Amino acid sequence: MYAISLAAFVLPYFIATPLITYYYDAKGLRKYPNFTFFSVLRIGPNALSISDLRDIKDIYGHGTTCIKDRFYSETAGTHAHLADVVDKSDHARKRKVLSSAYALKNLEEWEFKVADVTGKLIKAFDPRCTGSLSPGTIPETKDLTVDYRNWTVLFAATAIANIGLSEDLGLLDEGSDQDCHVATARVSYQLVWVYDRFKTLKRVSQLISPNYQRMWKLDGDWGGIVYNRATTRLKRYMAGEELDDFFTAMMEDKNGAPQNLEWGEIVAEINIMMNAGHDTTAISLRNNLTKSLNEDEVVASYGKIKHLPYLRACIDESLRMLPPVIFGLPRRTPLEGALILDDFIAGDISVSMSATGARDCIGRSISYLEQTVLIASLVHHYEFALPSADWDPAVRETTNLSWSDATEDMEKDDRMR
Ligand code: HEM
Repeated sequence: MYAISLAAFVLPYFIATPLITYYYDAKGLRKYPNFTFFSVLRIGPNALSISDLRDIKDIYGHGTTCIKDRFYSETAGTHAHLADVVDKSDHARKRKVLSSAYALKNLEEWEFKVADVTGKLIKAFDPRCTGSLSPGTIPETKDLTVDYRNWTVLFAATAIANIGLSEDLGLLDEGSDQDCHVATARVSYQLVWVYDRFKTLKRVSQLISPNYQRMWKLDGDWGGIVYNRATTRLKRYMAGEELDDFFTAMMEDKNGAPQNLEWGEIVAEINIMMNAGHDTTAISLRNNLTKSLNEDEVVASYGKIKHLPYLRACIDESLRMLPPVIFGLPRRTPLEGALILDDFIAGDISVSMSATGARDCIGRSISYLEQTVLIASLVHHYEFALPSADWDPAVRETTNLSWSDATEDMEKDDRMR
């Protein structure tokens, strides 16, 4: 009886419905192949990936009729934040309020925060680092004492908490963030893509897989951490402590007038700031070596290094080669359909390509500040060695091109042997 009911559910749900949808082809998508050298690929039942650069404006430009895809609303919390808000006028309202918080002027005033965190990282590295090796020497296993990838995550999370909430998370003292960042980046983004079934998949994955159970718990823990940090910061604000940070800029404008954001919205903005503001930058901090400071300078001053063309080129090149945000940012065509270049695409279709546009990154100046100061300081202070000549770190691709941890690298090496 159980098997018959299961089959009665599984057959229509997983086989008949997709087949009928495919052959009925209400939206005229069958003409797009799933593998081709031409510019439009069908990458899902309702999704197209487009590579012709001329299409960027129609999908992402200021005048586009497309909106952010359900990917964003499905993974949003109770309140939308700047990155997942779909409604265009609501986005414009938020962007106006938040651009004062993310403004370049603040950034220059916050440089000391990045310098302070850089100093802390160097303090943590100093006792862990070994003496320098002569060029070409392969380090011995006992000398592999610093997992640079892990420390950049701790650095970027500490920096953004300091810039945003004037708080020292203590991660650089502990050397650990309990893996919360890994779970948040992974779990929703693995399952969200079949939008109609995301909530069901979430429940089922928790029921049948201890691994998913653990990841969803970490995901919830991350939300808890953000909420906790936000309320701690609110208490300081209510107690009249005057702090120069992102939180203050969200509460009041530069003339001290209240911004009147709902509390849930403020928490959501802190969430995206902490989330988008650390993983991406940390991923990007893996490269670049150059030398241009005095011997006695430990932390590089931004003024001195921000215009170094080679350093900036290294950062930009590493962003190009290993883009921290790797997925095509999905937009949705309006119900009446949209002309993408000269091609009519039906309504409610997910379209994406590798791009920037009207929803460009508001945090990029913060990221450049952190990357430039940290990389210049580290390169000035240390010499670097790879664990082995053929070291090729494993990466894990979700929406971001995250790196795996050291254990996964070793498993990969074992599999190759
Ligand atoms: C290397 C570092 C970074 C990369 C590669 C990056 C990448 C991106 C990309 C591709 C988008 C567009 C997303 C979309 O359309 O769905 C975006 C938007 C955004 N980023 Fe970043 N980001 C970085 C650093 C940061 C930092 C440090 C912060 C905050 C402190 C931040 C906060 C945001 C926010 C709030 C948005 C949404 C903007 C809007 O829709 O108006 N990002 N970022």
